[in-house]
Amino acid sequence: MRLILVVLALSVLPQSGFAAEVGFPLFEMTPDLEDQGSLQRGAKIYMNYCLGCHSLQYQRYKRTAEDLGVPESLMLEHLVFDPNTKIGDPIKNTISKDNAKAWFGAVPPDLTLYTQLKGGPEYLYTYLLTFYEDSQRPLGANNLVYENVGMPHALLELQGVQKKVCKQIPKLAANGGEMMDPLSQNYITEEVCGLELIERGYSPLELVENSGQLTAEGYEQVVYDLTNFLYYVGDPSRLERERTGVFVLIFLAFFFVPAYLLAREYKKEFH
Ligand code: HEC
Repeated sequence: MRLILVVLALSVLPQSGFAAEVGFPLFEMTPDLEDQGSLQRGAKIYMNYCLGCHSLQYQRYKRTAEDLGVPESLMLEHLVFDPNTKIGDPIKNTISKDNAKAWFGAVPPDLTLYTQLKGGPEYLYTYLLTFYEDSQRPLGANNLVYENVGMPHALLELQGVQKKVCKQIPKLAANGGEMMDPLSQNYITEEVCGLELIERGYSPLELVENSGQLTAEGYEQVVYDLTNFLYYVGDPSRLERERTGVFVLIFLAFFFVPAYLLAREYKKEFH
């Protein structure tokens, strides 16, 4: 019993330890593997905007087509850009490690297991929403959850430019309440920047209007779909397992009735 408790305690540790490590509160993201439309859109964005640099080498096109309900011919026609690729091939790219290192200062990692390694989809989701313009960086982009990241903002044309801002927000009184001017009934404000803004519940990033093709909601949907897709890729049999699990529970519920009746018959014979 004690061993089981220890194992249980250890199994929850890495997840809770992770959030603290980032220093930036991660946004919530609940994947939905039943939403094939979302997974299909996510796959399309991935092939167009990410595969050039990041492979998914443990995942095959064929399996992806099957699970996402995409006919193989359509997959090859619209989502596979290298004419030599066959449907049974793993999802790889041809970027050379040496070039990548020279261009970005780091090799883009394979993303097949990324959401697994990060303890869930939240990190990826937040990362893709928190790129901002930074002229100090070689590629002009920085990121709130991954400071000084080597990657350019790959979805810039969709999202548009985000800038880091300071904001005028209500000053806090000693009791934690927001300070008001008793005469004018206006809040007394102060300028706050960076992490402190986040702690107070404000975003430190502001989108430059009309700098991207999508609205803020439209871009969030793209990032949701993309994260949903990479969550699926991290463990493709999860979908099957969840479905099987439901069947098993239904079966057990039905099986309970004859089992119970049988047990009652046995009991009668006892007395
Ligand atoms: C032009 C090449 C390029 C493109 C396109 C690109 N990335 Fe990257 N990405 C990189 C490089 C290089 C790194 C490593 C950065 C570092 O470690 O500083 C990286 C890092 C990452 C990381 C962080 C890895 C870590 O160590 O935690 C994630 C997540 C990621 N990319 C996701 C994506 C997604 C999703 C897309 C598509 C929307 C994408 N990338 C498009 C080059 C690219």
